[in-house]
Amino acid sequence: MNTTTRAGALAGRFEATFGAAPDGLWAAPGRVNLIGEHTDYNEGFVLPFAIDKRATTAVRLRNDSTIRLLSTVGDRGLVEADAAALTPGTVTGWAKYPLGVVWALRQSGIEVPGFELLLDSDVPLGAGLSSSHAIECAVVTALNELTGAGLSAEDMVTLTRHAENAFVGAPTGIMDQSASLRGASGHAVFLDCRDQSAELVPFPAQEAGLVLLVIDTKVAHSHADGGYASRRASCELGAGILGVTALRDVAVAGLEEASGLLDPVTFRRVRHIVTENDRVLQTVATLRSQGPARIGGLLDASHASMRDDFEISCPELDLAVDTARSHGAIGARMTGGGFGGSAIALTPVQDERQVRAAVVRAFAEAGFTAPDIFTVTPAAGAERLS
Ligand code: GLA
Repeated sequence: MNTTTRAGALAGRFEATFGAAPDGLWAAPGRVNLIGEHTDYNEGFVLPFAIDKRATTAVRLRNDSTIRLLSTVGDRGLVEADAAALTPGTVTGWAKYPLGVVWALRQSGIEVPGFELLLDSDVPLGAGLSSSHAIECAVVTALNELTGAGLSAEDMVTLTRHAENAFVGAPTGIMDQSASLRGASGHAVFLDCRDQSAELVPFPAQEAGLVLLVIDTKVAHSHADGGYASRRASCELGAGILGVTALRDVAVAGLEEASGLLDPVTFRRVRHIVTENDRVLQTVATLRSQGPARIGGLLDASHASMRDDFEISCPELDLAVDTARSHGAIGARMTGGGFGGSAIALTPVQDERQVRAAVVRAFAEAGFTAPDIFTVTPAAGAERLS
């Protein structure tokens, strides 16, 4: 089903379910991160892009404070809540994403009334492609417009981070929602997470004869689990000992001195962040001067750093990366928070079939669950569809 047909079907289903047409339809994409992992909460640099897979919401405001939520994804029943009585930590399942946004909007003084919402999404769940942020960004874009709140993209980024951190309970940064809200077709979003300044950097993979393959390892991960939070704590510990506001303030040249001040594990965590920030800057410069075909080595170095220094990879991600590389990909790395989820492999078009087949074979031989492999392209950020 193409996007227009799918949106039309969603509007029809909304009307059949809730008895009236929606006020409108809003969509927001998932993301892949090209490079710059765990740098966002260290006030550093990231280079994600919005992908051509997105969450779509049909929404209609109500005159009372009742919220009624329904999703077409999976077999999930109607969820009801009171907009005026939301409490962090009490909501489970997918409803915590839209309700977290309502809670955060109301916390910031925006009067959100009740509404009916029907969600559809083709962002794979749990694949590390920010399916949850896609929902949050579609919802915040819809409610911003429907309530006339007048929030900027930067405001909505801050607000959805608050929803994630305080309502959902995941101590994440601002990368995912920035890609979803600020992405543009054909471009990656080069974001400075200290001040939210962003530049769009062309990523003309197709013109360069390349595809970006996503290899979903099917290994479940959660940013509300201990691994993500413990890496964040190590970064804060390192910044504290080094006497800087955030690890963004440590230069590659400062690593030698840092090694004498930090315990070995904290030092390796710090080294990942410091070198990763540098790799983002190098990737942006290389994309601008030479194009996507020359960034492979930076992607590989990023993966090695996450595997060895930050220790957030897993056997399935390493196998996906190594196999893709040895069968034609010019660069590959895990993407997102780690401990599962997806890898990306920048691959010449003529090697795509061979890489796919080799990864599927390698997973079968290792006794791993079969991966899902698909291509993504940089797509538009959140928008109103109708
Ligand atoms: C998750 C978080 C982001 C970011 C990445 C790691 O996707 O939501 O804020 O920290 O992990 O780069």
